Amino acid sequence: MSIRNLDDLLAEGVSGRRVLVRADLNVPLDKQTGEITDDGRIRAVLPTLGALVSAGAKVVVCSHLGRPKGAPDPQFSLRPVAGRLGELLDAPVHFAEDTVGDSARSTVDELADGQVALLENLRFNKGETSKDDAERGAFADQLAAFGDAYVDDAFGAVHRKHASVYDVPARLPHVAGRLVLREVEVLSRLTGQPERPYVVVLGGSKVSDKLAVIEALLPTVDRLLIGGGMCFTFLKAQGHEVGTSLLEEEMVETCRNLLERSGGNILLPVDVVAADAFAPDAAHDTVRADGIPSHRLGLDIGPETVAGFAAALSQAKTIFWNGPMGVFEMAPFAAGTRGVAEAITKADAFSVVGGGDSAAAVRALGLDESSFGHISTGGGASLEYLEGKTLPGIAALEK
Ligand code: 3PG
Ligand code: MG
Repeated sequence: MSIRNLDDLLAEGVSGRRVLVRADLNVPLDKQTGEITDDGRIRAVLPTLGALVSAGAKVVVCSHLGRPKGAPDPQFSLRPVAGRLGELLDAPVHFAEDTVGDSARSTVDELADGQVALLENLRFNKGETSKDDAERGAFADQLAAFGDAYVDDAFGAVHRKHASVYDVPARLPHVAGRLVLREVEVLSRLTGQPERPYVVVLGGSKVSDKLAVIEALLPTVDRLLIGGGMCFTFLKAQGHEVGTSLLEEEMVETCRNLLERSGGNILLPVDVVAADAFAPDAAHDTVRADGIPSHRLGLDIGPETVAGFAAALSQAKTIFWNGPMGVFEMAPFAAGTRGVAEAITKADAFSVVGGGDSAAAVRALGLDESSFGHISTGGGASLEYLEGKTLPGIAALEK
């Protein structure tokens, strides 16, 4: 890619310079305790931060967390992330109580060479996500004042036209961090000439979220395996009743059309685990995909489906997986996701796991991360990359 990267910046020398790093530290938090339940995204930026620290930069990290509405909201504070980041870096991380206010200014001013600061959630400020160029630009001016150079390592946010991602690089010398570089290298292998068969597994709850990527992949992939909540809209399109399963009625016709155009390349579940309720202790059984009882909802793909998907995956040379196959957070409905994930690790293929949720599923199920070719930190970002869309954060680095 025609983008300068961290090595170019390090070669110029960063000792004593303030380097503003946009990271994606949007990690899942436990709703009750507020604790970080998966720190994968924090670990993913360590190579970039570590290199800058070693080179003696004053490292100013910024990120969003969740979707606060442009004002401070304590449940979305990055403070717990600062603590975890400090543990992983084995060095204190100076936390600023605001993003561009007095606390941020003094925190940045007081940084010594090789020290790290984390600013409070970018989305506590209206300007970060504003659709108004001037409002975003004004916020970007304030952020850019904290750096002599800018590093984008927030792959999970490169599809957002936000101030910290899109407008700040227009104001500072800018480079891609190690994570962004690696993510783009890997994903470009999938959009270029993937080794065949190329098999894609898609899950997650909504067809509408995945429609664009399905459209883009259909002509490219050899097999598209569909599970997760979105499979029920496809099953309905096949003429099956789906009980009280998740259903996007307005997408049924679209799914029917996709199935017709796919020439048999879309594989759907043949059996599902159907339950009385969306609860870990709900009564449940494996049923045929065309025999879901009217009072039940499908919460996972069934074992015969897992076997069929595994057979397709065992032939693959390239695999992309996004989205869980069922409600893996509840033990009775985790087997589908686990089975598919294991089949991916066993295949003699270059495999990419896309997405915050699927990556978290891999770790939550205790699977060995190193048995996958690459685990992307970006959900929406990796899908939009595969759709062939221009990603604002990448485009800004190219300029
Ligand atoms: C993500 O979790 O997908 C990224 O951090 C982007 O977050 P967003 O979807 O709220 O912009
Ligand atoms: Mg998202």
